[in-house]
Amino acid sequence: MEDSRGSDFVEKFYLNCGFATRCLHAGEHVGQPQSATHTGAIYQTSTFVFKDVQEGADVFAGRNKAGYSYTRMGNPTVKLLEAKVNSLEGAEIKKRNPEICVSTQAFSSGMGAISTVLMALASQGDTIIFGNVLYAATEHLANNVLNRFGIHSVGVDTTDLKAVEAALHQYPKARALFVETPTNPLLAVSDIASISRLIKAINPKIALVVDNTFATPYLQRPLEFGADVVVHSTTKYICGHGTVVGGLATTANDAIKDSIYTVLKDVGANPSPFDTWLVNLGLKTLPMRMDKHCSNAMQVARFLENHSKVAKVYYPGLESSPYHQLAKKQMKDFGGMISCELKGGLDSGKKMMDNIHLFTLAVSLGSVDSLIQHPASMTHASVPKEKREKSGISDGLVRLSIGVEDPQDLLAALEEVLKKV
Ligand SMILES: Cc1ncc(COP(=O)(O)O)c(C=O)c1O
Repeated sequence: MEDSRGSDFVEKFYLNCGFATRCLHAGEHVGQPQSATHTGAIYQTSTFVFKDVQEGADVFAGRNKAGYSYTRMGNPTVKLLEAKVNSLEGAEIKKRNPEICVSTQAFSSGMGAISTVLMALASQGDTIIFGNVLYAATEHLANNVLNRFGIHSVGVDTTDLKAVEAALHQYPKARALFVETPTNPLLAVSDIASISRLIKAINPKIALVVDNTFATPYLQRPLEFGADVVVHSTTKYICGHGTVVGGLATTANDAIKDSIYTVLKDVGANPSPFDTWLVNLGLKTLPMRMDKHCSNAMQVARFLENHSKVAKVYYPGLESSPYHQLAKKQMKDFGGMISCELKGGLDSGKKMMDNIHLFTLAVSLGSVDSLIQHPASMTHASVPKEKREKSGISDGLVRLSIGVEDPQDLLAALEEVLKKV
């Protein structure tokens, strides 16, 4: 079945192609009325013309699944991106089981994707189990928005399988378990396959939702490990150039896909065609960018770990990370995000962020250029101090998003700034 949201469309032709080939070619002509343009066209329109009343009625009634009515319900540019992501997240599971429907829906932001998915999965009186370190807006959504509609949230350390098992028994009314891996900003890694197995054994009514923003489908594909839904902020690596705020949700479960679409079209968290076009453009170079982000980040992490002024480095690629072995098993590489604490705590961290060259002081991450920010006063400022510190986000924590610059320049900038702290 194919409809204007790009559902269940993994092009067979590309199934056996490598990831980089699929980034370039998969989806490129899906949903495009004709293929005269080399790159997918931008359908910057809010509404679509029907040739007659019958055609309009068929599109609205779902009898004409390839037709478009109104951009909130579907748009050819958006559909192209959704079809490409179906291939990137779902080609392997589709090869294992051709009957599976892989469906992606694109959103106006990562939070648009997360809130829509959670509203699709849980109703009044239900519980959602969250990993206890999350991007702060996800945590805020749980504790300040969803709770007002009677959806309860509880936190669990998803890196501890015993704790996950206990929570699954303790909350029989849970309908979703939401885990970020690696986490923002502490780079903790959770075992997706083991959590999925526990859910299936204890309470299969729970959908496992994985926020894959830090890893991207190039480094980690949660559906292959048994996750039910994978969400992304495309604002980060997937777009990759800091030009768009966007999101994605992919599932191989038809009923979940339908619920997500129902909420999406009513809530209206759909992306603009132009933004979607930019995200698709970014995706074409994802593998090359990620390889460089990862190799640069590894060099920076090793440099920081060996520096006398650095107290602690959080990066799953380091052998000293408690998550190193799991990350090696679950991810293709370790990503471009690093957090660190300097020996002088907050004062030294501030000096570093205020004086460093090449790294731009700004929130967000995953752009081609390097960024630096202070989680306690910026991205995670909305988390109450006590809770923030308990989860390990100290006032002195500095988060670096390592770009694709020449690594010697990044190391020189760090060397220079650390002399000043
Ligand atoms: C891990 C993670 N998930 C979700 C989001 C939210 O994405 P957006 O800002 O696109 O809404 C972010 C934003 O930083 C994030 O880091």
